[in-house]
Amino acid sequence: MTILLTGAAGYIGSHTAVALAEAGYDVAIVDDFSNSSSEAVRRCEELTGRKMPLYEADVADKAAMEKIFAETKPEAVMHFAGFKAVGESVAKPLKYYRNNLDTTLTLLECMAEAGCKRFIFSSSATVYGAKAAVPYTEDSETGGCTNPYGWTKFMIEQIAAGAAVADPDMSVVLLRYFNPVGAHASGRIGENPSGIPNNLMPYITQVAVGRLPHLNVFGNDYDTPDGTGVRDYIHVVDLAAGHVKALEYALGHTGTEIFNLGTGHGVSVLELVHAFEKATGVKVPYEIAPRRPGDLASVYADCSKAERVLGWKAVKSVEDMCADSWRWQSSNPNGY
Ligand code: UFG
Repeated sequence: MTILLTGAAGYIGSHTAVALAEAGYDVAIVDDFSNSSSEAVRRCEELTGRKMPLYEADVADKAAMEKIFAETKPEAVMHFAGFKAVGESVAKPLKYYRNNLDTTLTLLECMAEAGCKRFIFSSSATVYGAKAAVPYTEDSETGGCTNPYGWTKFMIEQIAAGAAVADPDMSVVLLRYFNPVGAHASGRIGENPSGIPNNLMPYITQVAVGRLPHLNVFGNDYDTPDGTGVRDYIHVVDLAAGHVKALEYALGHTGTEIFNLGTGHGVSVLELVHAFEKATGVKVPYEIAPRRPGDLASVYADCSKAERVLGWKAVKSVEDMCADSWRWQSSNPNGY
């Protein structure tokens, strides 16, 4: 059974490709490498000993996608492709709306034409915006997103759910990720941001490896135990396992279902820095800097629905997240 993954040369998609292959699924990948490298897919093949047909195409290119659907005949689609830099989305909103929405619309059209009925989407905790109280449950209020990137996730959720209303045989699973970190335990695949990282863990690892001088901690006057921002960091290998469970669910159900994928535990910026230093023995110099616009004090999940319905639960510790991020970064100091 073939599962078509868009954007699986990227961070979360590549780890999910490995998890799917290990669970016995055939994986086909479409990626335009606009923010990723084909080397990631080559390493996924090497790790699993399985071929993963790789198509270089823009998911918004209908003719190319029709051909890919005809060749791969996927039973399900996992849609990871998309622009994801929060700050850039504020500066270039149309680029984000155009790309993230166009790709999804084209993909759903191709699925309908090909009779492919299972769609699993990389959504984000960002859809809860600033409205809901933590911990977020899947029923917490969404909307009020603080940037265009977040709105594209919000809108795609509506679009996909609408497709499943129109086609009662369709199954849509919306996975709301919290803060993915870590890397495959082999150190062969991991997060490979281009330019200066926006996110905390790759910033920490690049400071640790000597590529950046120090970490800026964005605010230490939040209403949190140590004043720094609190997030729900989840190991990317746990996240990938969640996708396998979501696929199994989608194969047996119709309609739209939403799951938070996090650990349910909040960790502050300084707690993560100290956990990293403890797990790796490497110092991470930091300075307190002003708050970053749009940041919330505290974001963490209630993940009980995923445990109850999917039988999935994050099992890896913050120490695993730090040690595995570091293994990847230190053995690939310049990425792929
Ligand atoms: N932080 C720093 N210094 C840095 C980078 C981050 O102190 O250099 C802090 C932030 O202020 C925040 C925490 O570290 O308190 C986490 O920041 P990230 O940028 O790593 O992650 P965010 O929670 O801001 O955003 C992430 C994803 C988004 C997603 C969002 C959902 O990057 O794609 O979670 O909640 F939308």
